[in-house]
Amino acid sequence: MPRLRTVYVCSSCGAQHPKWAGQCTACGEWNTLVEDVVSTETAVVSKTVAVSRALNSATEPLPISDITHSESAATATGIAEFDRVLDGGLVPGSVTLVSGEPGIGKSTLLLQIASTWPGRALYVSAEESAQQVRLRAKRLGANDDDTYLVSAMSLGDIVGAIDKVKPSLVVVDSVQTIADETIESAPGSVTQVRECSFRLVQEAKARNIAILLVGHVTKDGNIAGPRLLEHVVDTVVSFEGDRLHALRMVRAIKHRFGTTNELGLFEMTESGLVGVPDASNMLLADRQIGVAGSIVVPTIDGQRPMLVEVQALTTKVGTGFTPRRSAQGIESSRLAMLLAVLERRTGTAFASLEVYVSVVGGVRLNDPGSDLGFCLALASAAHDQPVTPQLAAIGEVGLGGEVRHVTHLERRVREAERMGFDRILVPANAKPLDGGRATLIRVASVAEAITHAF
Ligand code: TYD
Ligand code: MG
Repeated sequence: MPRLRTVYVCSSCGAQHPKWAGQCTACGEWNTLVEDVVSTETAVVSKTVAVSRALNSATEPLPISDITHSESAATATGIAEFDRVLDGGLVPGSVTLVSGEPGIGKSTLLLQIASTWPGRALYVSAEESAQQVRLRAKRLGANDDDTYLVSAMSLGDIVGAIDKVKPSLVVVDSVQTIADETIESAPGSVTQVRECSFRLVQEAKARNIAILLVGHVTKDGNIAGPRLLEHVVDTVVSFEGDRLHALRMVRAIKHRFGTTNELGLFEMTESGLVGVPDASNMLLADRQIGVAGSIVVPTIDGQRPMLVEVQALTTKVGTGFTPRRSAQGIESSRLAMLLAVLERRTGTAFASLEVYVSVVGGVRLNDPGSDLGFCLALASAAHDQPVTPQLAAIGEVGLGGEVRHVTHLERRVREAERMGFDRILVPANAKPLDGGRATLIRVASVAEAITHAF
């Protein structure tokens, strides 16, 4: 019987502490320590070493040029938007963590991938019965003879199923609900999540198969598991979006076999996730022209340009009430900053106005290049005057009210032109662009942008 002791493990970096504390002294994150039980024996360390030995066939140091290598050929999963994020597909022998909030669509996507996968795939559900998954597969049209299903929670059963089916792809849904029975910790605890994922990494390497792991995270990423797992797996893909909207975004946060700056876009439909090759078209579909407070912003996410509509609405607040500021798709601190800039640099008064700002389609706009768009939407709402039709705005806004340069200006402009926008506000110092259809209007400040926008 191993001797057990209680420790506090940081769910962000995995550091162990003997006592609970509000902040992890190793990584500095707050409120990430969770209670866990570990064996005082050296099993964990020896397992880690075993994994590292499995990964490195030779422990002898060699000159780098003497080390033989094969180009890690990725296998396309058959879901184009997912393959785009992974720079081609899944690499045999690799483990990919797909993390996201509960209900966002992880099981749906991975079941679709299991079905379109060119070889044999095994889908392990540790959350639903095989019948439930079968029903969903039917709805998704995922009825491939080469897709195997099993409902299992124990790591031993899962490895047994891999032995039987001999798949080239295994989906484990989810890493928080499986357990290694030889460890005295509850499923989802830091120890279980770490041990199970170590073991699956070993299995993937030893059998040269691709494994996809599902990991749930809450909004603040504050659950034992995914954050800790990021160090263990080869690739981390995050699945984002607003559950109440159809658009889902998939991006690689870490990728050992390629770049991490491609964005994948999906729409959640009645029959599962459908790739969205033309995001601008989808996001602007319901736009009403000529309404005050609305403007189109050409933004960049990863390498992908897309046009999004930003909307603002202002209403008079009753005397004695504090005006409300409501922000969707933009950080409230950034909205407060832009309101302050507008007030001080353009004289637009918001003190007696309630302000509602929203980015259409559930998109989160962290791109600084969308600052000018937010400012013009707010100014348009406050003055109750619509911006000129077919006008788009690009620029970062500084505290002095100046419009600053942005990344990927040309791609933003070309996307706006493709969607028929013919007047585009750009930063004054923007380099000249050749051969476009749209008129670029160079503006040095928000105040100057306002004179061109209406
Ligand atoms: P799910 O894949 O179960 O999310 P996760 O595994 O990330 O927790 O799917 C979440 C939601 O998606 C579910 O509440 C219903 C919706 N959905 C559809 O709209 N269409 C579909 O075809 C499917 C399968 C699910
Ligand atoms: Mg699920």
